[in-house]
Amino acid sequence: MKTYKVAVIPGDGIGPEVLAEGIKVLKEVAKLDGTFSFDFVTFPWGCEYYLKHGKMMDDAGMECLQEFDAIYLGAVGYPGVPDHISLWDLLLRIRKGFDQYINLRPIQLLKGAPCPLNGVQPGQIDMLVVRENSEGEYAGAGDWLFKGKPEEVVLQTGVFSRKGTERVIRYAYELARKTGKTLTSISKANALNYSMVFWDQVFVEVSKEYPDVKTYSYLVDAASMFFVKDPGRFQIVVTSNLFGDILTDLGAAITGGMGLAAGANLNPERKYPSMFEPIHGSAPDIAGKAIANPIASIWSVSQMLDFFGQEEWGKIVLTAIEQVLVKNECLTPDLDGKAKTNEVGDAVVSAICAMKKN
Ligand code: NAD
Ligand code: IPM
Ligand code: MN
Repeated sequence: MKTYKVAVIPGDGIGPEVLAEGIKVLKEVAKLDGTFSFDFVTFPWGCEYYLKHGKMMDDAGMECLQEFDAIYLGAVGYPGVPDHISLWDLLLRIRKGFDQYINLRPIQLLKGAPCPLNGVQPGQIDMLVVRENSEGEYAGAGDWLFKGKPEEVVLQTGVFSRKGTERVIRYAYELARKTGKTLTSISKANALNYSMVFWDQVFVEVSKEYPDVKTYSYLVDAASMFFVKDPGRFQIVVTSNLFGDILTDLGAAITGGMGLAAGANLNPERKYPSMFEPIHGSAPDIAGKAIANPIASIWSVSQMLDFFGQEEWGKIVLTAIEQVLVKNECLTPDLDGKAKTNEVGDAVVSAICAMKKN
């Protein structure tokens, strides 16, 4: 029997609450399938760990994670530890250290999910954002000069390498070709006169290899406006690290909220483990109340199953989520329901079981 080794990093706030439900789903899927199983190993890394040990993860943490087929992460960051420390020492360290340069974030309006936009129906928002995930505005390059002095200057440098830019753009073209969808690049060359001029140039260069792919190019400010006014015009979207971060929270808002938004951090070459996570944070405002929506976390499990080549199960999990949304009986307060986090997880599991019986 095939065993998938999954490293579990629940992290902070609602991270552990929502991850428990994704694990429940994976266990049920393995039981129903019978040809594969999961070996979960949980790591206690996060802000509490930092307050005890002065670091977010064990010194040998990265070597340890390397042995796994995938990483399943909840959320990182909590009041009491500065965000730039907690995130750079755990989440961003893993993304960069394992060269997870593709961040795949589906922005899809499922049936039963609330949409704040007038007259927009399920199916009318169906995009996949390919966010650059290893460099760009998140290169971590900069300087802080004359600290505290009147002439104080702070630099935060974006780094766009040819290798880094080409590989994410090529990945998006391949995806567009494979799915027959259009590809939209979102950038900002009018103001960012080095990085984004280069990005746009690479997008055009690579397009020559993909004459079959229909392409569009938008400035990020206009694209944000169209996400709200006419999201149906986007299919596959490729964009830089920071723009992808912001656009996918906006994307979450138009497809039911942060409780429904999932993401996969991929190292496509599979030299290093990939990481699956809800895209929301630790939500300190609702942590510990057992009311966090676990659907984003469960959706990322569907992405993990796809990544393992278990696409049929990935689809079943997503369909089960949709059925729970449509039924509208067991939803958390962010979706105007009264259910607890674990009850939504149970409802998804029941929907999966019911589908397998038929
Ligand atoms: P957040 O995503 O944690 O919360 C934003 C809002 O969305 C809050 O009102 C929260 O209650 C709500 N929300 C988020 N997830 C939800 C869910 N599953 N169910 C119901 N409601 C949900 O963003 P924030 O408040 O800006 O950040 C909090 C902390 O998380 C910060 O430390 C931040 O740096 C960190 N963060 C971590 C990640 C990550 O680990 N991937 C992502 C974003 C933010
Ligand atoms: C996300 C988060 C992270 C990011 C933060 C917490 C560093 O917002 O995964 O979207 O900006 O990538
Ligand atoms: Mn974000």
